[in-house]
Parts: sequence; structure tokens; C-alpha cells
Amino acid sequence: MRFDILTLFPSMFEGPFHSSIVQRARSRGLIAIGIHNIRDYTTDRHHTADDYPYGGGAGMVMKPGPIFAAVEATLAEARASNPGLERSDVILLTPQGRLFRQSMAEELSRHQHLVLICGHYEGVDERVREHLVTDEISIGDYVLTGGEIPAMVIVDAVTRLVPGVLGSQESAFEESHASGLLEYPQYTRPPVFRGWAVPDVLLSGNHEAIARWRRQQALLRTLRRRPDLLLTSPPSLPDLILLTEVASPDELKAAGLQPAYPEAKRRRRRPAPPAPEGISENELPQ
Ligand code: ADE
Repeated sequence: MRFDILTLFPSMFEGPFHSSIVQRARSRGLIAIGIHNIRDYTTDRHHTADDYPYGGGAGMVMKPGPIFAAVEATLAEARASNPGLERSDVILLTPQGRLFRQSMAEELSRHQHLVLICGHYEGVDERVREHLVTDEISIGDYVLTGGEIPAMVIVDAVTRLVPGVLGSQESAFEESHASGLLEYPQYTRPPVFRGWAVPDVLLSGNHEAIARWRRQQALLRTLRRRPDLLLTSPPSLPDLILLTEVASPDELKAAGLQPAYPEAKRRRRRPAPPAPEGISENELPQ
């Protein structure tokens, strides 16, 4: 997978891609990252990348010429070095874009080539939006000084999903996180720190009980901190029974949920279908 980042501030990228998992992925050839200075694609003596807005108003607007030239050169270079390249996505980072989520990171991790344009100042000339980019992404409902940090966020979140980037221990964590729930509480040694003890169940060695406790805690944490996640994917009946054990009826109600008890599970169980003729019930496949 290849990322090309177009920016007015290339030095901002010197740190984040040179350590940890992203650096490891680069050195193993699983991803490649190119940083390009938009100013290198200006044509005037002063390397002007921005100008006053037509119609007046505060702030400056990024000129279309250098951005178009930078994207076109980057696409040509990527195709020349990889003749098998079928598709490139050209993404503008802007607070006006689609909200970046884990599901979007998963989708982007299946793409071959992402070109990320870091917007700046009051914005970019509208013709970049209309005629050059294929998508616009925001990393949250707040305004940053530019698209550089959002580009780093996207490269980081997408890279860890590229096959082979995470080791097996790391990807197990990924799976639980991708479930749509917040992560359960984690503890490490010592078992008692300043008088605060690790929950007994985690020291019990009972893997089934640990898995049940973790699921219950993930559900409870999600209910308390991000009930909106439970609205988009409502808990199954077994999960609701687990939640009912630890959440108050008011907490459940606030998230639009009804308490559920183990009897509900028995009631919901369907009667077994009749056995086909000529086969006795204990001969049925399991
Ligand atoms: N540029 C400035 N703020 C931004 C945001 N929240 N997301 C993406 N790009 C931005």
C-alpha cells in the first residue's frame, strides 16, 4: 500500500512515521510513504501557494495550480513505478469532509494508493474539491491548523490494518476493538498497587470466566461512555443479559434498552424442527 502526502509543511512528518509500528511496516516494505512539498509545484519566483479570496473576507485560500500539479506528478510517478496500479484515491483533509471512523480505516486499508492533500489557511480553491479529489475526510468536529495531523491519523489507523503489519498478539487486540464496543479494562503486575487490587477473576485462571467478565465490562463501558455505539448495533440477547447483571435499569433505559434476564433466553429458544421421516431423532447430525 502506498501513501503520498501533499503538504506545505513537510517537516511536520519527520517524527511520526519514523518510529513504532509505522516505521516497522515501512522497513518491511508493507507500506511506502512519500511526502511532497506543494510549494515545489509553484511556478512563480516567490513560490506562492496561497492567495486572497475572491469576493473578499479574512484569510488566504490555497491556489488550485500547485495542488493540481502536485497531484498529477504524484499519480504519474506512482503509475510509472507500479504499472499494476489500478486505482488511486485523492483525499482532501478538511473539517467539511466525511467523519473518519474505524469502518472507513478498514475500507481504505483495502485500497492500493492514497494521495492525501493537507488543506491549510481558510481552505482550498473549490475547483480542487470539484475536479480533483475523490473524497474529503474530517477526523473530528473541531478545527485544526491544517490537514497534516489528520493525514498522520489516517496513515496510522490504516497502516495497522494492512495485512501483516500487526503481529498476532497485536491483531488479537484489533479484533476485539473492531467489535463495535469499547475495550474492557486491562491490568498488569503488581496484583495490588497502592492498595488497589486487580479484579479476582483475572487472577483465577478460569478462561471462560475471564472472557465473560471482559465482554461484560466492554458492554458496560460502552453503555456508560458511548451509548450511541449501542444504538447503531444493538446488543444481542446474551449481551443484554450480561449488561442487565451490572447496569442499573435507568442506565439501560437511557440507552433505549430494556433489562433482560436468563429466562428470556429460554423463552426465545425455538422448538426443534420435526425429524425427517425414517430417521429417528438421535440419528440426526449434530
Ligand atoms: N483540517 C483542519 N481541521 C481538520 C479536521 N478536523 N479534519 C480534517 N482536516 C482538518
